[in-house]
Amino acid sequence: MAPLTLALSKGRLLDETLPLLADAGIVPREDPRASRKLIVETQAPGVSLVILRASDVPTYVQYGAADFGIAGKDVLLEHGTEGLYQPIDLGIGRCRLVVATCSDYDWARSVQRGARIRVATKYVRTAREHFAAKGMHVDVIHLYGSMELAPIAGLADAIVDLVSTGNTLKANGLVAVEDIMPISARLVVNPGSLKLKRDAAKPLIDALERAAAGRAKP
Ligand code: PRP
Repeated sequence: MAPLTLALSKGRLLDETLPLLADAGIVPREDPRASRKLIVETQAPGVSLVILRASDVPTYVQYGAADFGIAGKDVLLEHGTEGLYQPIDLGIGRCRLVVATCSDYDWARSVQRGARIRVATKYVRTAREHFAAKGMHVDVIHLYGSMELAPIAGLADAIVDLVSTGNTLKANGLVAVEDIMPISARLVVNPGSLKLKRDAAKPLIDALERAAAGRAKP
């Protein structure tokens, strides 16, 4: 059977990814969260994992350096899905992409007045598309993390960021003022891998699909 490489996002999503992989029969030989290793073999014959920064997962899959990847819809929207086959919503990493401001900022009024609003985000493309669709002109400031600081520090009026429990917004005195879209993690596949390694790849996709469907049941 052809060897397969699955690219995973490190960070919070990895905690939810590993149990799903286990349900699909893919168990790492060592815990990638406890190791500095970037390539981790699994107990599934021929299947290895590479552990990447989330935003690099689609790039590895697009170029075929990994056959599969698991990445959030937020990451895929920013990267674009050209050269990626996207067969399954895995139902993990569920959160929402929102616009948030300091709780004392009058967002509705600024929007109504047509004020020039500054928005800090790591999701530059998605934020631009969201505001353009609403006919709003905003200045988008690109940040790489800790977006919640930007309105407090006076860098921006608002942020576009992910909200899961809401604890980070709350802890920093921010509130969500617009909901952009729900987010969850997707399986992405290199189309060439699916063609050339179909005998190995198809059962793995099917196993992940079954595992995701099994978890979706109440
Ligand atoms: C994400 C997101 C928020 C936080 C929201 O950051 O950017 O800061 O989680 O989660 P909550 O609603 O449960 O508090 P993450 O911790 O993934 O790190 P990042 O800043 O590197 O994106």
